[in-house]
Amino acid sequence: MYNLLKGKRGIIFGALDENSIAWKTAERVHEEGGKFVLTNAPVAMRMGQIKNLAEKTGSEIIPADATNMDDLQNLVTKAMEILGGKLDFVLHSIGMSVNVRKNIPYTESNYVNTEKGWDVSALSFHKVCQVLYKNDAMNEWGSIVALTYMAAQRTFPDYNDMADNKAYLESIARSFGYFFGKDKKVRVNTISQSPTATTAGQGVKGFDGFIAYADAMSPLGNATAQDCANYTVSLFSDLTRKVTMQNLFHDGGFSNTGVSNEVIERFTK
Ligand code: NAI
Repeated sequence: MYNLLKGKRGIIFGALDENSIAWKTAERVHEEGGKFVLTNAPVAMRMGQIKNLAEKTGSEIIPADATNMDDLQNLVTKAMEILGGKLDFVLHSIGMSVNVRKNIPYTESNYVNTEKGWDVSALSFHKVCQVLYKNDAMNEWGSIVALTYMAAQRTFPDYNDMADNKAYLESIARSFGYFFGKDKKVRVNTISQSPTATTAGQGVKGFDGFIAYADAMSPLGNATAQDCANYTVSLFSDLTRKVTMQNLFHDGGFSNTGVSNEVIERFTK
């Protein structure tokens, strides 16, 4: 522990259960001295175990549907009241595709589903940023992070419309990052994480093959949720103040590997 987040306040979206990337991040932020409010969609909280995490980290929970501007306004106002001031960090760790859930192939997308998934997975990041920006809720040198996946750059057929949602999400980090940087000295980035065994991750068809392939392709092996939590802590800390508007690959080297020896061996007769 390095006390990297001592005195810092924030909001963590998306802790559903102990596998969630947001869950691991909340634990690490707590260990580093950060204080935060936990939030998730009201429906997820009925199913989830978020209360255990809140107790463990001495945090309060404020339900918010990240697609609903009134919920987000309430969340940001209450979080500042509870934490006693403006915020230093925000984690957006939210994703859901109705087409994926219903096993609808990409080529047969139902556009009502597409819009819902886009709203939850991509536009919600703009909504979160807008509410933070308009309320002047972030301290200078604060840090906003969202989680993404490399299907935004390269095609992974079973990632379905989440690939398009992630491309949009990453673009918001650049676009809002400009205004947040200029006007508020706040940084906005996305972390492009390895496949990770969580509820959202396992929703992807053929996930076991997907995660094993990525592991075999990555010189350092897949980054785990715990690794992602550590990386996020570094982005929330004062050690990365000039990093903004970036999509940061956190994937054990996968994104820059053409092929690995392990994968070649499988095709060698
Ligand atoms: P998870 O299933 O634990 O977390 C997803 C969260 O989104 C859940 O807590 C869920 O309740 C929340 N959510 C869904 N709809 C919401 C709404 N309307 N309002 C507020 N919250 C809502 O799964 P995981 O993997 O921890 O996902 C976190 C983020 O990491 C997502 O953006 C995901 O796409 C991303 N990611 C995951 C990877 C993986 O392989 N698991 C790889 C790369 C990125």
